[in-house]
Parts: sequence; C-alpha cells; structure tokens
Amino acid sequence: MSGKKHRLDRFISAKTGTPKSKVRLMLAQKRIYVDGQLATDINQPIDQFSHVALDDKVLQKNSRTYIMMNKPIGVVSATKDEQHKTVMDLLVEKNINTADLHIVGRLDLNSSGLLLITNDGDWSRALMSPENKVAKVYEVTLEHPITDECIQAFADGMYFSYEDITTKPAQLEKLSECVAKVTLEEGRYHQIKRMFGRFRNPVLALHRVSIGEIELDADLAPGEYRALRKNEVNLK
Ligand code: URA
Repeated sequence: MSGKKHRLDRFISAKTGTPKSKVRLMLAQKRIYVDGQLATDINQPIDQFSHVALDDKVLQKNSRTYIMMNKPIGVVSATKDEQHKTVMDLLVEKNINTADLHIVGRLDLNSSGLLLITNDGDWSRALMSPENKVAKVYEVTLEHPITDECIQAFADGMYFSYEDITTKPAQLEKLSECVAKVTLEEGRYHQIKRMFGRFRNPVLALHRVSIGEIELDADLAPGEYRALRKNEVNLK
C-alpha cells in the first residue's frame, strides 16, 4: 500500500456516502476530528494511518505494522503462490491479518534470513530507494573457494546484458575459504547468485543478516517472526 493522500472532504464523502457540500457543513459544525484534533481545513490530506472521527464515530483507525521474520528456505517471499507456502501464509497461520501487508525486499525461495513485512509504504520505499543506499548484508556459502578476482569484480560492478545495467560497487569479504559476507546497496533479480555464477561458483546457501541498521534477531528460529521495536523502525 502506498502512502497515498486523500482530501478530507473526499475521504468523508466516500466513507459516509454524504455529498461533499454536506461535508463542508459538518466541518463548520465542528463534527470532524483528525488524529484527535478538530479539523478546520477541508483540503487537509488524509492517509491510510490518519485517525478520522465524525462525532463519536471512528471512520478510520489503522495502525502501522512492522514485522521481522527469519524467512525459512523453501517458503516464497510473496503474498500468494500456487506451489509453495508463502511468508504471508506463515503469518495467517498465527492469525495475523495480512490484507494490507507487503514485503520489503524479497528473498529467493532457497534463501533465508531477515525479511521485513509492513503496511507502511513510505517506510518500505525509504528502505528500498536506491538513493538512500541502504546496505543489505548476506552471508553466502559457496561451492568453491572465493578468489581475489571475484572480490575485485564485486567491487567494480558487473554488467548484466539482460537488464543492460552495471551493478553498484558491492563489498565481498571473505569469512573463510568458501564463506563470504556480501554487502549490496541494491537488490537485482538473483543478484548474488548471478554474480558468483560469473565465476562458476554456485551459491550453496544465502542468508540475509541485516537491512540497514536492522539486524535479524538471533532468537528467531526459521519461520519465526516478531514486531519490530520502536527504535528498529526508526533506525532504517
Ligand atoms: N541475491 C540472490 O541471488 N538471492 C537473494 O535471495 C538475495 C540476493
């Protein structure tokens, strides 16, 4: 869901079926409250999280939701899938209403780790916007030893003819012979697998450990999730 704004008169009119001219009268009669304050401007912008009341009746009350999940391997980062269980299915199983939730930065079917899920479009856009250069960190296990040539290629950027793009400089740090910490500021389709694929080095396991300052909670087993803490939401 986007952070789309509506004008107050349109919003009230649509919610109550009252003509806009009557909504003006309601405003003059001091009957409309937005976020607990008496509304005075018919043009006031309303978004999905504005608390709107007419007299004693609440017309809209949506709270922001921010979830971190340890995505298990074999579960799809999608809302619906014909073949596989999705991360949203995991939430539905716990009676979470997923109707207005979306995923922030997908992981492949056979990747695991930190996945963020929210209903706040402005927040997810800020996290994923290339201008904000939010670092995504992955631990990657490879079939063959990591070469210096490969480390340099990640730093230089790699050209993908299919999309006609060159990847942004990425950091590849060797943790052991076949295990690397990879830091990306973007998220191209199967990016890490394709980059190692250039060196004929198949990825055996790929686990996301952080997005920006938000780190995967080590207490979350695969498939488990928890609400983000206030400070984590504000970290980005
Ligand atoms: N790169 C990949 O190849 N897969 C992921 O899931 C994430 C980054």
